[in-house]
Amino acid sequence: MTDITALIDWLDRTGDLSDEALKILLTFEDPEAEALLYMRADAKRRACYGDAVYLRGLIEISNYCKNNCYYCGIRAGNSHAQRYRLDRDQILSCCREGYALGYRTFVLQGGEDPYFTDERLTEIISAIHSAYPDCAITLSIGERSRESYQALYDAGARRYLLRHETANAAHYGQLHPAAMSHANRRRCLYDLKEIGYQVGAGIMVGAPYQTLDHIIEDIRFMQDLEPDMIGIGPFIHHHETPFADQPDGDLYLTIRLLAVLRLLFPYVLLPATTALGTIHPQGREMGLKAGANVIMPNLSPADTRRLYELYENKAGIGEAAAQSKAALDRQVAAAGYRTEVAIGNVAPH
Ligand code: 5AD
Repeated sequence: MTDITALIDWLDRTGDLSDEALKILLTFEDPEAEALLYMRADAKRRACYGDAVYLRGLIEISNYCKNNCYYCGIRAGNSHAQRYRLDRDQILSCCREGYALGYRTFVLQGGEDPYFTDERLTEIISAIHSAYPDCAITLSIGERSRESYQALYDAGARRYLLRHETANAAHYGQLHPAAMSHANRRRCLYDLKEIGYQVGAGIMVGAPYQTLDHIIEDIRFMQDLEPDMIGIGPFIHHHETPFADQPDGDLYLTIRLLAVLRLLFPYVLLPATTALGTIHPQGREMGLKAGANVIMPNLSPADTRRLYELYENKAGIGEAAAQSKAALDRQVAAAGYRTEVAIGNVAPH
């Protein structure tokens, strides 16, 4: 216990630890020390961000995807997926509804759908930007060329979420077909940063073949990248994928990693993800109490929401946006925090 306490203290004070010490913090079994770790993470988050939980309205624009990632339910090879895409007007109407509910950040997320050319996207982004100049536009639409990222930035997008999935090249190869490369993933993230986007990286906890050493590599990679957001959630199997029989990621390791990330990256935006809420009914609250400070409620039309199925039993598919905003405010308040729709990233970068 005292050893663990000393490690937590050191991490809290200096913001870093050796690989070995990080591995200990991710695996020790001692309920008291565990409570201390979550307390310190929560104190750090309150020191940096107070009790705010930032809300980002998520709009799932397409479940067409040209990629074939082994873990993902909307992979191209899943011929049973019912495909949809939202058109410009449907996307704008999601924004309108979200804006009325108070959301000031819209996250356009989708598979890598060739329909969404730069031309179509820049038109949509400009339309959102001019209709809602006080809102931030975030994209989460996968790997594109630097020129494309630049064009989307010029149209008004300012944030981009692209999980690196794993910083280890061999592990990357175990999760993706050969057509996808770890090097290109990194290239995308560094291009996005250079262009001036606020960038989100991240991993699935308990992804097949993931080891603790991989997670340490992920941490070291992110210390180099310095992302503004780190999205982590447990891997959850999907029956129409090659990983159908793989075990789901562990709730407690995910929470543990959230707390460690809060202490390593005090100002980072850390979502309590839908996947976390899916593997445990209290998952998101547990995440918030361990350092997470962002929630991304779903603003997608009710009828397409169930089709955006990256993994099974996705939480929140039954709720209407308005209903879920009120429920969310209550849920967040009950956990001891306060929802905040301001776009502000208060981090001193
Ligand atoms: N389980 C959990 N997360 C998943 N993602 C994709 N498939 C799954 C799954 N089966 C995550 C990936 C991707 C993000 C949009 O969703 O990390 O980057």
